[in-house]
Amino acid sequence: MAEKRFRALVTGGAGFIGAHLVEALVADRNQVTVIDNLSSGKLSNLDNVKDRIDFIRGDIRERELLEKAARGCRYIFHLAAVVSVTATVTDPVGSARVNELGTLEVLEAARKCEIRRVILSSSSAVYGDDPRLPKQEQMPPRPKSPYAVQKLVNEHYAALYNDLYGVETVCLRYFNVYGPRQDPSSPYSGVISIFMKQAADKKPPVIYGDGGQTRDFVFVTDVVRANLLAAGAPSAAGDILNIGTGKSISITELWNLVAGIAGVGLKPEYQPPRSGDIRHSVADIGRAARSVGYRPEVDLASGLAETYKWCLQQQ
Ligand code: UD1
Repeated sequence: MAEKRFRALVTGGAGFIGAHLVEALVADRNQVTVIDNLSSGKLSNLDNVKDRIDFIRGDIRERELLEKAARGCRYIFHLAAVVSVTATVTDPVGSARVNELGTLEVLEAARKCEIRRVILSSSSAVYGDDPRLPKQEQMPPRPKSPYAVQKLVNEHYAALYNDLYGVETVCLRYFNVYGPRQDPSSPYSGVISIFMKQAADKKPPVIYGDGGQTRDFVFVTDVVRANLLAAGAPSAAGDILNIGTGKSISITELWNLVAGIAGVGLKPEYQPPRSGDIRHSVADIGRAARSVGYRPEVDLASGLAETYKWCLQQQ
């Protein structure tokens, strides 16, 4: 990043992606405040940096706490959210309170505390089932879950704060993020975290459908770099950027790669497709490259190997 050494607030900094971002900010010798209510994040994710950050256990909707955390920061990286799509389907109102009103509180705190820029975590879920590939930012959104609607609403609020109040914002639409610390414990966890656990336990994985569906899997450290680049590129204010790799792989091929890394010869168990499953997803990352100089650096084989190493350490 161009301007080194600043204070940043990371909401959701104890989560899977947030904790990697906090580590990178600390490694660059920036001062970091984390606010996290630990609803899905874990303090242990911050074990490597806990003595070098200010940690606030609290909810982004606690206005005074949030403002206190934001004061004096140059950037806010906003990652706090109900991140489970299924949880938002079960509880559209409760999740909107966090994902929509919580984000509005973050933007409002940024306005009051004169934060230079807010980098918001959005999702490729906003594209929904649009069959056109690769996904480009200007395609009309087709949200198919409360989660996707909530992320889209946040993008609109971010644009409004950028244009109306002069709080610079950049929204990053993550594709399928994977890496160490991703929790495999729910059937709706990221497929890579589930496949890793199955391989480590020497149990066959379940593949929903014919396994020919494809995804663009992006390693967590590339997502972290995208956040840092989005903070540092002056002309990116107001942008919405896809953050993936521009390449996709089928779920069957993915399992073959994981099985190869783990040295297991297990055959997947094929089950009926999941309802609402999207067939193909791949990002066009041209705009992110032009706007902030983003290019993914970790190829799938290396990212999977690193994730598997971590997975074995958890056994
Ligand atoms: C993502 C969300 C998901 C949401 C969906 C729609 C993540 C991790 N998941 O799903 O919660 O409903 O967008 O917006 O962001 N699969 C298997 N076996 C498994 C697990 C998954 O075959 O054990 C398949 C799935 O059916 C899917 C693919 O793997 O086809 C990827 O699944 P997943 O990691 O959940 O990501 P998305 O489908 O992109």
